[in-house]
Amino acid sequence: MSVSGTTARGAAGVRVLRFAPAKLNLTLAVVGRREDGYHALHSVMVPLALGDAVAVTVGPAGARAGASGGARGGTTRGGARGDTLRIEGLPLPATPENLVLRAIDATRAAVCDAAWPGGPADPPPLAARLTKRIPVAAGLGGGSSDAAASIAAALEAWGASLPPARVAEVAVSLGSDVPFFLAGGAALVTGRGEFVEPLPDLRGAAPAVLIVTPRLPVSTPAVFAAYGGGARPAEAGAALAVSERLVADLRSGLATPDLLARAGELAAANDLLPAALSLAPPLAEFRRALQAILGRPVGQSGSGPTAWVLYPSLATARKAARSVRLGLRDGSLPPIGDGEPFVVATAILSRGSTTSTTHPAGAHNVVEPNEIGRSGAQPVGFSVRKGSDPR
Ligand code: C5P
Repeated sequence: MSVSGTTARGAAGVRVLRFAPAKLNLTLAVVGRREDGYHALHSVMVPLALGDAVAVTVGPAGARAGASGGARGGTTRGGARGDTLRIEGLPLPATPENLVLRAIDATRAAVCDAAWPGGPADPPPLAARLTKRIPVAAGLGGGSSDAAASIAAALEAWGASLPPARVAEVAVSLGSDVPFFLAGGAALVTGRGEFVEPLPDLRGAAPAVLIVTPRLPVSTPAVFAAYGGGARPAEAGAALAVSERLVADLRSGLATPDLLARAGELAAANDLLPAALSLAPPLAEFRRALQAILGRPVGQSGSGPTAWVLYPSLATARKAARSVRLGLRDGSLPPIGDGEPFVVATAILSRGSTTSTTHPAGAHNVVEPNEIGRSGAQPVGFSVRKGSDPR
């Protein structure tokens, strides 16, 4: 993750933008319990065009911004080293525990340890801005993706580099899903999440995905604990068999229509589903009703409660999103959780669709993720628009 370029990296005012995609687990098999208490997984994960945006701006060296509040559109709080965070979009408090601030902190510590040649001895504070679009505690990896984006953005802003193994260590110290987001595309994820083997993109146009997230946050540790307590699929090993077959077929060049044809077996290949249902019983009826309305298999991402449904095109996924909204209005979908579910038509992101941009002080740039649904058949990672600073 080395950086080169003409910008004076690490200088006050340098700004780096990163797209932080959501993830989907196409499969999730639990293959054992490890000595450290984590569960060993076998999961095929893909990034989505739905995502957050992380921007960091280098502050003056030695500055200690401290905590402050009341910034327009969100709250800003100081990190341990003077870093600040402001959050826009979905409501989420900007606390020091936010993974953006924790990732910047952990990256700074690793950089100080490494003392790379030519770098500042004490990486200056960063002002971070998070545009939140991925629902929280949903099984979509939003916080983990923000963390991965923040590690990369901080390194780039400081003009720092770390050995990939050190970056991977920092990533997994922040959460089991963080290493996946450093891979930049579909991957087989094993161990507790620390082993990430990139997989080839699907052949042909990327599939579209309907995401439906009831406002019923499900805690990942609670889901794993319920799994440990016996809330498991009737047939042990079935999810692993589907997952292994998917990996083998992706490696030999699986085409999108062939993925869509096996949506039924993929939707069933999540070993955490019974555990999620045991913690949130109304989810079972909701998922049954969703399947009845859409007439397609309904999967679950990660520990839930997000439901996913695959489609051949954005147009069909958007039509499905309209059916879901209609079902919520006419009562054919039962109301569950704290308000209307989050419903979006998005797409699986191909490798190389995400990027980053560094700007010298004074350049005003806006990240525009999630234009999916307005921009034709291909997923859009994000675009950078020069213009007036929206702050
Ligand atoms: O690593 P992360 O903070 O995302 O994990 C949250 C919790 O989920 C862990 O503390 C653990 O209880 C559980 N977990 C697990 N096995 C995994 C990932 C998470 O048991 N592979």
